[in-house]
Amino acid sequence: MTRRSLALIKALVIVACVIPFAWVAARAFGFAGDLGANPVQMVLHTFGKTGLNLLILTLAITPIRKQTGLNWLVALRRTLGLAAFAYILLHAITYAVLDQGLAWRSLLVDVAMRPYITVGFLALVLMVPLAVTSTNAMQRRLRRRWVQLHRLVYLIGILGAVHFLWLVKIDVTEPLLYMAVLALLLGYRVIDWQRRNRKRRLRAARKPT
Ligand code: HEM
Repeated sequence: MTRRSLALIKALVIVACVIPFAWVAARAFGFAGDLGANPVQMVLHTFGKTGLNLLILTLAITPIRKQTGLNWLVALRRTLGLAAFAYILLHAITYAVLDQGLAWRSLLVDVAMRPYITVGFLALVLMVPLAVTSTNAMQRRLRRRWVQLHRLVYLIGILGAVHFLWLVKIDVTEPLLYMAVLALLLGYRVIDWQRRNRKRRLRAARKPT
């Protein structure tokens, strides 16, 4: 993969990430139809779902890279992760501003008393340190701690799926599917960590003393 092709792929990924936002913005301003009978709900759902999808895509990069040997995929991880954060932030802002009209007291009550909002809020808060430390400089500075910190992304994904499961009232098929995909991705990483640890231990045992 040349630098130029990678830059092109990155640019295409960025454009793809912006599409759901552009779709919402276009409809909000009356282009390409409207946002339906309940526009706030439509915006909330579009941003929430896009954020969760992008988070899962971010988590899928490492397993796909390891299985296919396409190492350049790792260069897309940060872009996808930051786009996921941007959508979840927009999702929460939509709720706070458009749905609740920035009524702080009612927002605080929601965070404290409505379990699905509590879990979503926790996931959003946990995403902040990951976004802040996503730069190369931070990665170099934190080294091993960066890797440990960024494992939080699995917990964030699970919290996001639990948030979804909790808010659905009738058909839980979709949130359960998200949970199953997350369980697969986490299972893959656990098996991979165990395999690497075993190799490391074997190598250490073979070293002459
Ligand atoms: C402060 C944080 C958050 C707040 C206040 C919040 C609030 C909401 C609300 C009010 C809904 C719509 C509920 C309904 O239909 O009645 C919703 C849906 C949803 N949220 Fe969140 N959320 C937050 C964080 C998150 C996070 C972190 C994720 C994912 C990682 C997420 C993903 C979703 C998804 C997938 C839906 C359902 C979309 C659909 O049904 O199509 N949310 N959220």
